Amino acid sequence: VERFASYDDLHLLVQKYIVRGEEPRTIELHTGIDGRVWSLNGEHFRACKPVGSEEYLGMECRTGEFDISIDVMGSYVIEGGTIEDHRLRCEDREMIHEYSIRISPEKPVTLIQYVSVFTSNDTEDPKKSARETVRRAQRLGYQVLKDEHKKRWDTVWDVSDVRIDGDIFSQAALRFNLYQNIIATPAHTDTLPIGARGLSCQAYQGAAFWDQEMFNMPMFLFTQPEVARNILTYRYKTLSGAREKARNLGYTGAFYAWISGKTGEELCPSFFFKDVFTGRPIHNHFNDWQIHVSPDIVYAIKLYYEATGDWEFIVRYGAEIIFEVARFLWSRAHFKKDKNRYEIIRVLGPDEYHENVDNNGFTNYQCRFALSFAESVYQRLKKENPSEYYLVAEKIGLEGTEVDDWCDMQRKLYLPEPDPHNRIIEQFDGFFDLEDTTPEQLERRILDNHEYWGWPNGIAVETQVSKQADVIQLMNLHPLFEKKVVRANFDYYEPRTQHGSSLSPSAYAIAAARIGYIEKAYTYFKEGTTIDLWSTAKAESGGTFIGGIHTAACGAAWQMIVFGFAGMRLAEDELIFEPVLPELWEKVSFTLFYRGNRLTVSFTKESMYVTAYEENPDSVDVRIGCNIVKIGPGSHEIVQYGDLRL
Ligand code: BGC
Repeated sequence: VERFASYDDLHLLVQKYIVRGEEPRTIELHTGIDGRVWSLNGEHFRACKPVGSEEYLGMECRTGEFDISIDVMGSYVIEGGTIEDHRLRCEDREMIHEYSIRISPEKPVTLIQYVSVFTSNDTEDPKKSARETVRRAQRLGYQVLKDEHKKRWDTVWDVSDVRIDGDIFSQAALRFNLYQNIIATPAHTDTLPIGARGLSCQAYQGAAFWDQEMFNMPMFLFTQPEVARNILTYRYKTLSGAREKARNLGYTGAFYAWISGKTGEELCPSFFFKDVFTGRPIHNHFNDWQIHVSPDIVYAIKLYYEATGDWEFIVRYGAEIIFEVARFLWSRAHFKKDKNRYEIIRVLGPDEYHENVDNNGFTNYQCRFALSFAESVYQRLKKENPSEYYLVAEKIGLEGTEVDDWCDMQRKLYLPEPDPHNRIIEQFDGFFDLEDTTPEQLERRILDNHEYWGWPNGIAVETQVSKQADVIQLMNLHPLFEKKVVRANFDYYEPRTQHGSSLSPSAYAIAAARIGYIEKAYTYFKEGTTIDLWSTAKAESGGTFIGGIHTAACGAAWQMIVFGFAGMRLAEDELIFEPVLPELWEKVSFTLFYRGNRLTVSFTKESMYVTAYEENPDSVDVRIGCNIVKIGPGSHEIVQYGDLRL
């Protein structure tokens, strides 16, 4: 059996079966379309009708909620064997051709199937498009289609592949993750999200989380920047849902959904988990208190801008998102007159076990970052693109006084600082007063394997045990924290982190590589890249099914290499590297796009090589340790670490 979902023609599925008999015999071969799709969230189709002719078989379906037409068309070819009997079975949602075929060692039978899927989201007449695709496929034949598919993949791997020499297991696990991140991402459009569980599962409704910008996007930003642009444009196109969410909850601006649907509307139910002992639903507040997704999107836009220099994107789409998010943050914050500072209360940070907390460090720093970027975009836009500025200001009714408010909030927003004695940042107000224990100790208190550890009365709630990287995630995003601060926080939070989310091991790997805990980074790398290979993540929590491919972890695999082991960061106008390699790895190589220039980077334990493509428009400033090199088009640099201070 060989089959592929064509990467060259996204509407085409092709498969080939060859059946060979060791002795002559008659086999039953059934081929067709089975429309009995199982849906996690209840019946998805309002109607599903088999249609067929001599030439094609098909299934016409309509979804219940949005009345979207989905047309599946297929045709097939049988070669070899002797057909003894043929029946067509056409039942509710099934259209199957049944053959009895005589085969022998000399006469194997080959079945080739061409199937096309179109929806009314893709085209006006999905049935016609599907039929045309199948017709074209039949005309070109299996081998040509396979070659086209492979050629397209080659161009993607050419920019996306990361090579690890010396450890075949890490290499294979890494590629598995890169592949999953690629196939889960609707690279061809700016109107679809990356589902947090990819294409493999219906959990989380195929919708976007903060995973999309923080975990999936960076790999595309540095390998296929146009895909990163699509991902961010998707957020522009779903602004209306984010605005509505803010309005419904009594705020202004754009409050992006925790689980973002078709128009950006919130899909996250208020009752997400249930108490496994009583069976009663738990009112979780992911949807109304987990506010950091909005500044996270702004963070991703800034990263995109720094890596590409694409100011046009900011003018066209980014500015409106950024201003609306700044507005929301200002309306969400509280000004404490007695302390002369803004605080952000009643939130959840990335650690979802602790809901209803005040001044979560991650959230507050992200908010300050977003406000500060909003201010600089506002100033530049007004100056350099006055007519576009007036258009957006008029569209969203922006007042100059609002920008003064953002600036005020930015200056006076409370940010939990590292403690002057032990350098640790408190995850949120009162965190250190909670019971100090570890996930291992806590686990002994479990009565039911499926019980939910978090809010309001899970076993972790009154303790310092975090579900996932929180303060450490913050430190990965903001290099303003010195290594000694990161190290102190790593040492403190690591034993208290359960890694109950697939987003967590990668964050610890990146931080560990930065502070020189290289073998620990390697252990986390293995943990992060095998989540789906070994299926180590829990598929159910608090009675809710959350299984499937963990696409955020897949995207983060790339980050562990580039931001972690290669230690890459962006600064003003240069790329900074601080490479380290685990014992087993001999060399790591990857491709990078930076401001329209393509580079290949490889590093060993002794040196780093950076090569610039002939076609590059500019030279790129690269800092390796304390060594700064300028790499012009077509040239390369080798930096021996020697006694470099890395
Ligand atoms: C994690 C979130 C994540 C979501 C979707 C949850 O378990 O805690 O951070 O966004 O899964 O992947």
